[in-house]
Amino acid sequence: MWIYVRDLKNHVGEHVELRGWVRNVRSSGKIHFIDFRDGTGFIQVVVEKNNVDEESFANCKKLKMESSVIIHGVVKEDKRSPWGVEVLAERVTPVQIPQEPYPINKPDHGIEYLMERRHLWLRSKRQFHIMMVRNEVLKAIRNFYWERGFVQIDTPIFTGAIGETAGNLFELDYFDYGKVYLAQTGQLYLEAACLAYGKVFNLGPTFRAEKSKTRRHLIEFWMNEAEVAYYEHEDNVRLQEELVSYIVRWVLEKASDHLIALGRDLKKLEKVEPPFPRITYTEAVKLLQNNGFDIKWGDDFGGDEETFIASQFEKPVFVTHYPRKAKAFYMQPDPNNPEVVLCDDLLAPEGYGEIIGASQRIHDYDLLVERLKEFNLPIEAYDWYLDLRRWGSVPHSGFGLGVERTIAWICGLEHIREAIPFPRTLYRVYP
Ligand code: 4AD
Ligand code: MG
Repeated sequence: MWIYVRDLKNHVGEHVELRGWVRNVRSSGKIHFIDFRDGTGFIQVVVEKNNVDEESFANCKKLKMESSVIIHGVVKEDKRSPWGVEVLAERVTPVQIPQEPYPINKPDHGIEYLMERRHLWLRSKRQFHIMMVRNEVLKAIRNFYWERGFVQIDTPIFTGAIGETAGNLFELDYFDYGKVYLAQTGQLYLEAACLAYGKVFNLGPTFRAEKSKTRRHLIEFWMNEAEVAYYEHEDNVRLQEELVSYIVRWVLEKASDHLIALGRDLKKLEKVEPPFPRITYTEAVKLLQNNGFDIKWGDDFGGDEETFIASQFEKPVFVTHYPRKAKAFYMQPDPNNPEVVLCDDLLAPEGYGEIIGASQRIHDYDLLVERLKEFNLPIEAYDWYLDLRRWGSVPHSGFGLGVERTIAWICGLEHIREAIPFPRTLYRVYP
């Protein structure tokens, strides 16, 4: 019976079939040790000369790194293996034996060398653990919303209206229509959907032509956004801390073995429970000024500022009430001080920066028109968006969570590029 490595522990003493790949073979006369993987885990297969037919034993001598192979054998308990078992082979059948040496064969390949071979690099142990965590993060996000009665709304990638800022758009020609943009955000469409279905979310790729080459920036990244009708700023903040705590708890529950394999300190993640600390933008500026940062009220924070603010706390921290001039056109002004808006950024601990951008949205028609003009945005392109303020407008709020930044933080990665299977960065679209 074909069994996956992940399930072998339930088949101790049984004859099984494994289908997978050889990571390495060590041989010593009468015995071969195959370091085997099948996409669900890694295991040692022991091939003893007097336990297999002659052809199988001879086949093992031909096996090279990343040969594909089918193995029949018996599952044995093995306390030293991370999976608790190893397999004693009875038959070894190669599927394909490479003609050339596998290019990823040293522990110290440089990052560019590995990125150029990302399609192969994904097979490595570390990348396996990261992708398994990513998979759980994506499951956690969807489950969080579905458990709470949210409706998934898939927002478009081609958009006619600018969602965030004009500065980092990918433009392309769309038949006779003219210029359209790749989505920076699905927010405007989620706003429409929340007035139709109440509580909605999306999960999909977004695009920013950002010339920033930092460890936090991708050109194509995945975002999870949520939008809720009748939610105000406070409701929005609570939803975000629940979501982030849920994701972390889920990953600790379902994938802590992967986190441990990545060397992650689980104690730091175990602290991530609501409520999260909060400071206002104005307090954050004072904190920064008192610690030698050259910043004045009205400036946006850069990576260093975010890292410093976050380092003051053990949990993610909300920075709220930014100056309206530093933020996007759609944010609702604070009734107590119209120079700031009802918004928050959630900063992850340990230097991972902003993982969420959020706000209450302007629901008043006239005020929204005023803001569109102030930001020099073409009113015609936003006519449908203004319709949402013409019919049945209500206060509503939402946010966007950067999926890869969240994964990078949870896994403790140095750079965001490892958090996505095929990263698109400033200098890389291959493979
Ligand atoms: O803060 P941002 O720009 O917010 C929006 O796009 C809102 N329209 C979301 C909403 O309210 N529905 O982006 C949201 C998050 C950021 O906090 C960050 O985590 C991530 O997306 N992000 C990036 N991640 C990787 N690479 C980039 N270039 C990113 N830009 C933003
Ligand atoms: Mg932001």
